[in-house]
Amino acid sequence: MRTLIVNGTVVTADGSVRADVLVDGEQVALVEPDLPARGVTAEATVDAAGRWVVPGAIDVHTHFELPLGGTAAKDTWATGTTAAAFGGTTTVIDFAAQQRGGSLRAGVDASLAQAEGRAAIDYGLHIMVSDVNDASLAEMDLLVADGVPTFKLFTAYPETTMSDDGAIYRAMRRAAVNGGLVMIHAENGLAIDAIVAENIALGRTEPVWHGRSRPAVLEGEATNRAIRLAEVAGVPVYIVHLSSRDALEEVRTARRRGTPAWAETCPQYLFLSLDDLDRPGFEGAKFVCSPPLRPRDHQEDLWDGLAAGDLQAVATDHCPFDFHGQKELGRGDFRRIPNGLPGIEDRVDLVHHGGVAAGRFGPERWVDIVATTPAKLFGLYPRKGTIAPGSDADLVIYDHARRRTISAATHHMNVDYSCYEGLEVQGAADLVMSRGAVLVRDGTWVGPAGHGRFLRRAPATFARGA
Ligand code: URP
Ligand code: ZN
Ligand code: ZN
Repeated sequence: MRTLIVNGTVVTADGSVRADVLVDGEQVALVEPDLPARGVTAEATVDAAGRWVVPGAIDVHTHFELPLGGTAAKDTWATGTTAAAFGGTTTVIDFAAQQRGGSLRAGVDASLAQAEGRAAIDYGLHIMVSDVNDASLAEMDLLVADGVPTFKLFTAYPETTMSDDGAIYRAMRRAAVNGGLVMIHAENGLAIDAIVAENIALGRTEPVWHGRSRPAVLEGEATNRAIRLAEVAGVPVYIVHLSSRDALEEVRTARRRGTPAWAETCPQYLFLSLDDLDRPGFEGAKFVCSPPLRPRDHQEDLWDGLAAGDLQAVATDHCPFDFHGQKELGRGDFRRIPNGLPGIEDRVDLVHHGGVAAGRFGPERWVDIVATTPAKLFGLYPRKGTIAPGSDADLVIYDHARRRTISAATHHMNVDYSCYEGLEVQGAADLVMSRGAVLVRDGTWVGPAGHGRFLRRAPATFARGA
C-alpha cells in the first residue's frame, strides 16, 4: 500500500520544508516537492494543506500497569498506547521492573508478556534496577545485547528501590563496558524519609506535605551526586523526570565542563506547581508524584533549559491512578497516595502550546524535544524520530492553529481526572500514522488493535561525548 501526503510542510529537527511524502508499505520512500506533478502515484492521498507533517513523537518514560502502593497504574498497555496515539505519540519506552531478589530478565519478560498483542504503537523497554549484585550486573550485558540497553536506578525510595552510591557506581562501570545507559531518579531518599517522619509526627498529613517533604535542594544534591559518579565511572548519565531549577543547574554546570549529562523534564513540571498540591480538600492528591511539583517560579527555568538545550527531552512519566479509589487510599496520610500522574495523551500538544505557540522556541526544536533527541538517545534513530527515506512511516499531520480544551470527559487515558482539566491548548494531531497504518483520523480511532511491535534498541546513537 502506497500513501501520498501532499501540500503539507514537513517539519523535522533539521528544518521545515514544503514537501510531499510518499509512504510505501511501512516506510517513508520519498520526501520531495510536487510528487503528483512528477507522476508519483499511490493508492491513497492525504491532503495536509495548511498543516505540518511531523515525525511521530516518542515518549521515553511511561509506566503501564505498574504495581505501586498496593494498587497498579490504571492504564494498560492497550489503553495507554491508544491514548498516546490520539496525542501524536507513536513510540513509547516503558519501564519493566526488577523485584528485589529477582532477576532483570524476569522483569523484562513480564512486561513483554503484558505488551505483546496489546500495544497499539511500537514500544521498547527500560528496566528499573532495584538490586545491584553480581548476577544483575552480568544480566545487564545480556539485556544490552537483547535490545534493552537502558537501566533506571534510584537514589530515592530506600524501602523498595534505592541503590547506594557504590551500587550506582558499579552499574555505571558495567555500562561503560557494555554500552548501556544508566538513568537516575535523583532525589535524596534517606533525607526525604527523615523529613517525612518529622512532618507526620507534627500531624501534617495533607497532600501538600508530600511536596514540602521533598525539597528541590535534595533533587539538586542527588543529581550532582549521580553526575559525579558518572564522571568517575566514565559514562554518560540520563536524569529522569527533572523537576527543579536546582537539578537543572547541576546538569547545566556538568554539561559546561564537558560531561555528557542528559535530562528530561515532564509536562507536569512545566505547567503545574506546588499550588496544585495545595488545592482544597483532598484534591491535591491528584497531583502527587515524585519528584513533586515545585513552586511556580521553577517553570520558566525549565522552559529556558529546553530552549537552550540544557534539557534534551520532555517525557511524561505517565503513571495514572484514579482519584476515586486509588489516590483516595492516602486520605489522612499522604504517604499512602500512589505516586504518579497521567499525561501521555497531552504531552505533544502541551509542549507545542507552551513552547512553540508561546514563542519560546520554534517548531523544529519542538520536534527535537518530543521525537528526535529521544530517538537518538535511546537507540531508535533514524528508524524513528525523523521523516526521511527509509525511516518508519510514523507520521503526524499536525494542525498547529487548532485549539482544543483538555478534559477527562474527552481524553482516552483510562483515568478519572485530568491534571490539565479546562486548559485550552493550541495545536492538535489531525492524523496519526504508525508504520504506514493510519491509527487516528480526525479524533477517531481507525487503526488495527494490537498494532505495536517490540523495538530492540541499540545503545545510544548520540556520540557518547555529546
Ligand atoms: O511519581 C512517580 N514518578 N511515579 C512513577 C515512578 C517513578 O519514580 O518514576
Ligand atoms: Zn522515578
Ligand atoms: Zn517514572
